[in-house]
Amino acid sequence: MAKEQVSHRSFGGPVPEHVAIIMDGNGRWAEERGMLRVQGHGAGVASVREVTTECARMGVKSLTLYAFSIENWKRPSREVRYLMRLLRIFMHRERRTLMDNDVRLHCIGRLDELPAPALLELRRTEAMTRDNPGMLLRLALSYGSRTEIGDAVRKIALEAVRGDLDPNDIDEETIRAYLYDPVTPDPDLIIRTAGEMRISNFLLWQMSYAELYVTDVCWPEFRLPHLLEAFSAYAKRKRKFGGLLDEAQGGGEGRAAGSRSTA
Ligand code: FPP
Repeated sequence: MAKEQVSHRSFGGPVPEHVAIIMDGNGRWAEERGMLRVQGHGAGVASVREVTTECARMGVKSLTLYAFSIENWKRPSREVRYLMRLLRIFMHRERRTLMDNDVRLHCIGRLDELPAPALLELRRTEAMTRDNPGMLLRLALSYGSRTEIGDAVRKIALEAVRGDLDPNDIDEETIRAYLYDPVTPDPDLIIRTAGEMRISNFLLWQMSYAELYVTDVCWPEFRLPHLLEAFSAYAKRKRKFGGLLDEAQGGGEGRAAGSRSTA
């Protein structure tokens, strides 16, 4: 599809404001081609670049990419080293692309567990892109949702023990306030590539009312036409947020904070 044709009208509805992607199938894509698994990760970088720039152009407000889970540390050290090197090189090389597309980078996860050279490049890119007015690109790195929730609960308990927080006042908003990124609204659409029907410890709190879309396409092959297919599917969904359709469309009360008023 030509770039000029890509607008929210192409989908029969609005583009999702926050898209989150579980980028899966790099290893399978490589093995099917007689290549090394790590070459699949290398090939996946082109998809990251295309999906990021196209989402920014289409007016997506936030894009969260699951780039390295906390469980991924269990992979062979050679693969982990390769991924960390890829991350460092990506940060260095793609800064220009992020700047050209007004994209702001922010990383979430146990970032202090990343190797120092990768963390340094990542912090540099975050600083350089901080004031960009366009899309927010969130990379989930050394990220696990149960760990995120556990970290939040620990901080809340410490506040309570210190007497700074009354346990009776703890509600959904208190918990949200202690998550890695309390500000960005919840994802509207979660895409998973490579066909597996699972969530893999990704944004468990934030995904409560997200629409799920699974495609068999492996991540290194996932490009603009696949993204448009996902957006078209999303545009056909009727979102009720547990209420009735009219109420959800009208922006009625009682919806979880951080979620949006689109139907
Ligand atoms: C899952 O595929 C993917 C990952 C563990 C890493 C994702 C990394 C990239 C897309 C490239 C680098 C990204 C950035 C932001 C620099 P898998 O290996 O589990 O695939 P499989 O299920 O087929 O084995």
